[in-house]
Amino acid sequence: MSAVRRDLLPDSAWVDGSGSLWIGGCEVTALAAEYGTPLFVYDEEHLRARCREAVAAFPDGAAYATKAFLCGAMALLAHEEGMQLDVATGGELQVALRAGVPADQLIFHGNNKSAYELAMALDVGVRHIVVDNADELDRIEHLHHASGVVAKVLVRLNPAIEAHTHEYLQTGVADSKFGFAVEGGVAADAVRRVKGSAAFEFAGVHAHIGSQVYATSSFAKTIEVLGAFAGDTDASELSIGGGLGVAYVGDEQAPTITQWGEAVRDAAVAAGVNAKITAEPGRSIVASAAVTAYSVGVMKPIAGVRTYVAVDGGMSDNPRPVLYGSGYEAFLARATAAERDLAVRIVGKHCESGDVIVAEAYIPRETAVGDVLVTPVTGAYGHSMGSNYNMVVRPPVVFVRDGFARLVVRRETYDDLVARDLVIG
Ligand code: LLP
Repeated sequence: MSAVRRDLLPDSAWVDGSGSLWIGGCEVTALAAEYGTPLFVYDEEHLRARCREAVAAFPDGAAYATKAFLCGAMALLAHEEGMQLDVATGGELQVALRAGVPADQLIFHGNNKSAYELAMALDVGVRHIVVDNADELDRIEHLHHASGVVAKVLVRLNPAIEAHTHEYLQTGVADSKFGFAVEGGVAADAVRRVKGSAAFEFAGVHAHIGSQVYATSSFAKTIEVLGAFAGDTDASELSIGGGLGVAYVGDEQAPTITQWGEAVRDAAVAAGVNAKITAEPGRSIVASAAVTAYSVGVMKPIAGVRTYVAVDGGMSDNPRPVLYGSGYEAFLARATAAERDLAVRIVGKHCESGDVIVAEAYIPRETAVGDVLVTPVTGAYGHSMGSNYNMVVRPPVVFVRDGFARLVVRRETYDDLVARDLVIG
């Protein structure tokens, strides 16, 4: 196996004469030595460039889907680059607000928003609440009766479009917990109810068909359905959600955010839509901006079977291989351009056999215990879906740029692990 594909690495990645990987002007082995491993390393300029690309591709509004990766620094960065933020729980809302993002730049999502979360969103004055179901409409009306507050809403439609992606990542199909079905008039009834009630101000419609979608035609189809539906309402905004896929391994190719925007705009023109078109990318903003650096702790050859390489993280910092069977590449930070001629299985340190990071990996034969192993394209849904399984402490996050590293999330400590435990100590 040849060296890792350059475009799977962050924009600023550079390999020096000795084969060592640098990101944002910082050598990854040096970062690993300074901050320890596992470590998430994000290329700050790459993040900023993707945010700017999204704002240019969707000039009517681009919201960063914070579920992909959220911390104060990321919330602020996306805001500074002109993005709105999509938050899907009270927790995400709080992190964004505490980072200093103005409430009118926040879009509040969720398929089961509690009365508490809704009250909080209305109280701070979020830009839009994306209403998802009839019970949520009841809850907002109830809040309106109590306080007189009016919710500016997008109505989430289920357009029943089958995006070509993992079943768990698909949301637009008819059999889904998300949104009001277009089919059967459920969504039309919801819009009628919203428009007829003093509790709501109707701003438009929304659909999110799934995640890790490569086919821009699926988004074009979504615009057709949204446009046709919205034609009968006075929706001033159509949001096509997020979902643009990224390349993770080998020969995968994904459209750019710019191409995504063009495809969506072309579809809108063809469908005669003149409402504002907005989008909510998450993965495509952050995924390839980051790599995870691990240390190799164990190399265990099993004669006639395979070699297991155990690293110091695992399903607690990247649950995607376990959850979705997602593939990743791996390579040595100190020998980035080296031929990868040893077939191994890279596993974590958790107490279960399924704790696999890369099931069929190729790494250089020279790999040894103590080496820094890197998995690229780990910027989305790794840190954010991390856990404390086996009481493993969660890794820190550094942003690197122009030769400087900025620790934006510190490593969890053993004290953090017992901070909520009322019986210890
Ligand atoms: N908007 C809504 C309403 C969403 O539900 C999502 C993602 C997004 C935007 C952003 O989608 P993106 O551009 O990131 O694809 N944990 C899974 C992905 C779940 C996505 C959930 N919703 C994974 O690791 O692949």
